[in-house]
Amino acid sequence: MTASAPQIDPPFLGEPYLLTPGPLTTSYEVKQAMLRDWGSWDDDFRAMTRDMRSRLLALLGEGAGAFDCVPMQGSGSFAVEAMLASFVPRDGKALVLANGAYGLRSAQTLQYLGRDYQLLDKGDYLPPRGDEVAQILAEDPSITHVVAIHCETSSGILNPVEEISEAVYAAGRKLLIDSMSAFGAIELQPSQIRYEAMVSSANKCIEGVPGFGFVIARKEELEAAKGNSHSLSLDVHAQWAHMEKTGQWRFTPPTHVVAAFLEALKGHEAEGGVAGRGGRYTRNRDVMVAGMRELGFETLLQNRWLSPIIVTFFCPADANFVFGRFYDLMKEKGFIIYPGKLTVVDSFRVGCIGQMDEHVMRQVVTAAKETLAEMGVASAAPPAAALEERAKLAA
Ligand SMILES: Cc1ncc(COP(=O)(O)O)c(C=O)c1O
Repeated sequence: MTASAPQIDPPFLGEPYLLTPGPLTTSYEVKQAMLRDWGSWDDDFRAMTRDMRSRLLALLGEGAGAFDCVPMQGSGSFAVEAMLASFVPRDGKALVLANGAYGLRSAQTLQYLGRDYQLLDKGDYLPPRGDEVAQILAEDPSITHVVAIHCETSSGILNPVEEISEAVYAAGRKLLIDSMSAFGAIELQPSQIRYEAMVSSANKCIEGVPGFGFVIARKEELEAAKGNSHSLSLDVHAQWAHMEKTGQWRFTPPTHVVAAFLEALKGHEAEGGVAGRGGRYTRNRDVMVAGMRELGFETLLQNRWLSPIIVTFFCPADANFVFGRFYDLMKEKGFIIYPGKLTVVDSFRVGCIGQMDEHVMRQVVTAAKETLAEMGVASAAPPAAALEERAKLAA
């Protein structure tokens, strides 16, 4: 048994819990922080931007001094695009490690950017391994950068970025990490895992609201990125240089979102930083997965690959199970879940991140149990094809 987590306030005015990977359920304090208007040019807002950047950098732990943090307006995909456009030079070549939608999106982004790339596509969820990366890099000396997804949110798999990083630097190449859904809950300390740049956004594990992403990169890479980007608004070097010089964002900043995010960062610190936040999410996952398995549901992934961010479950084989109805009945009970993204078998996902604790996750399991009964689903066991699919991961 794990220790009991502090009880978290229920969402504001009875709104449902978002069991989704961002936007997610935020605290009352985060919502409240958006009740004030800020002038983007004003010193108070500049101080907020400064504070936010240094708090984010502090999450890297030892070695943070070699990095800087550059916030970028837009959703997470904008920040990923900014990172790829700014750090993969126009004559560079990237190896993209994909095992789901977000890896494929990085590849698509490079295609839009006109950057050369090679794709290692492992399908819906199989992890890209260090030895595969080493082999591809040995075969193609023109590859300059490797792009890895930390937690591939489309399946919930936690990819082995440590062994990927080792393979990348053993071959003398550079690593860029999309840590969108993991940063803040899973350590990404440069003293443990070497990389040049990573990206995440406001509405993930720090528990802010959507509106901007941020790139955290080595200062020497930021310097060297000058002139790489073909995009004015997504140029990380230009945003960084301007922010360093003036303390301001280049173009209209999402002021309320920044104010909310700063509050979220304070909440993150109060919870014990990355370890505290990751600990709560892990308890959320453990309680929820154990309860769902007791009901007969099966996870796509074995425990080893299950992230504490989001979990994919196979839809039950029972003919009475219809995802749309399951979703609606769960929502009526106060829980918004997420459809699956697997291409081979039907699935759905339950997020573990946001202002929820293990007590809430127990209620989620109870709601799922009641919903199955209302739908007349006798067994939550998946079809045989789903289990065959899963067996591939063990092979
Ligand atoms: C790993 C990963 N990368 C990129 C994105 C894209 O972020 P956004 O939907 O905010 O553009 C997401 C979104 O969930 C994600 O989980």
